[in-house]
Amino acid sequence: LDNGLMRTPPMGWLAWERFRCDIDCDNDPQNCINEVLFRDMADRLAEDGWRELGYVYVNIDDCWSSKTRDAKGRLQPDPKRFPGGIAKLARYVHDRGLKLGIYGDMGTYTCAGYPGTTLDTIETDAQTFAEWGIDMLKLDGCFSNSSVQEQGYPLMSKALNATDRPIGYSCSWPCYQGGLPPKVNYTILGEICNLWRNYGDIEDSWDSVLSIVDWFTDHQDIIQPAAGPGHWNDPDMLIIGDYGLSMDQSRSQMALWAIMAAPLFMSSDLRTINSGARAILQNKAAIAINQDPLGIQGRRLIKEKSGIDVFWRPLSNQASALVFFSRRTDMPYRYHTSLKALNYTKGTYMVYDVFSQKVQPMLKDTTDFVVSINPTGVVMWYVFPAAGWQVVGSN
Ligand code: DGJ
Repeated sequence: LDNGLMRTPPMGWLAWERFRCDIDCDNDPQNCINEVLFRDMADRLAEDGWRELGYVYVNIDDCWSSKTRDAKGRLQPDPKRFPGGIAKLARYVHDRGLKLGIYGDMGTYTCAGYPGTTLDTIETDAQTFAEWGIDMLKLDGCFSNSSVQEQGYPLMSKALNATDRPIGYSCSWPCYQGGLPPKVNYTILGEICNLWRNYGDIEDSWDSVLSIVDWFTDHQDIIQPAAGPGHWNDPDMLIIGDYGLSMDQSRSQMALWAIMAAPLFMSSDLRTINSGARAILQNKAAIAINQDPLGIQGRRLIKEKSGIDVFWRPLSNQASALVFFSRRTDMPYRYHTSLKALNYTKGTYMVYDVFSQKVQPMLKDTTDFVVSINPTGVVMWYVFPAAGWQVVGSN
């Protein structure tokens, strides 16, 4: 969507995967969906170094609203859990240099049974969000059908555009239509949405991450060309820092999301996140690869019988990124290859290892090398032509 927003994949925090629809604030005040949770996360983003790295969206998901619209037919937050209202929360977030995202559903109800946006309330809801000072809308697609979605998603895009506020637009539409043509039209999606969920929900497990990676790579010929500045495929939230991933698996999610030019929405408790997970999420090189201004989504180049996948992404200034990913479950695997075998043109390259943070000696395209990849882990490289590196290095 050409609204000037999200020229690189959006980054921030989104409540759903970690906090779901916990509305029991009486018994579980630390984990329930209320205004305190979003203020807390805004504080953490602003004070713990996230904002400077680009993590600026604080996004509300399902279960924020009252079960009924107000007397004028407008959505309203649950009065007990958001007593200050959304406009005040937006000011709190904006005062910290951050942006506030909200959630709606193009259908009768949200997935958790709260009021949805029907065709006749699209304009009202867009207007309400703009008046509150909302910066991004995720529009889900439960309790809906193909015809409502086909009309509703483009109409909401228009309605948001008609407000005087720039509002990033995340569409769950394709995910409800199986993610593939002919039911999904990626040309239209790119015109009306800034990002879209192609596939099912992430859960807190490695199996879940793997099933998403599999779907995205199996269908890369269709979805990879659809991504670019202002319009991104969204494989769903980062679960790094939760309960389901080992450190190697956490690095894998970060590396694969970065090379796929995926939106980086963390869904973890930033108040208690451990330092290992934080370091992975705050890895500057991984973020720089994700945020590369060319905005070309990476692809899987090679799927080895041994269980090693190699991903490649072209970056600006003739740089590129590589991810060597192991699907093995035995022991670190020593993968032998050369840059030439990975389609690199003749020349000498400098390699920066993203997670070990080491610069490797000059590497000729023809030189054979070995990377040791942990089970379910990755090695991620930032590759520069050697001449270019000297210019960067001399600055
Ligand atoms: C389905 C979406 O895909 C999830 O990300 C989340 O928004 C839930 N609905 C909320 O009910």
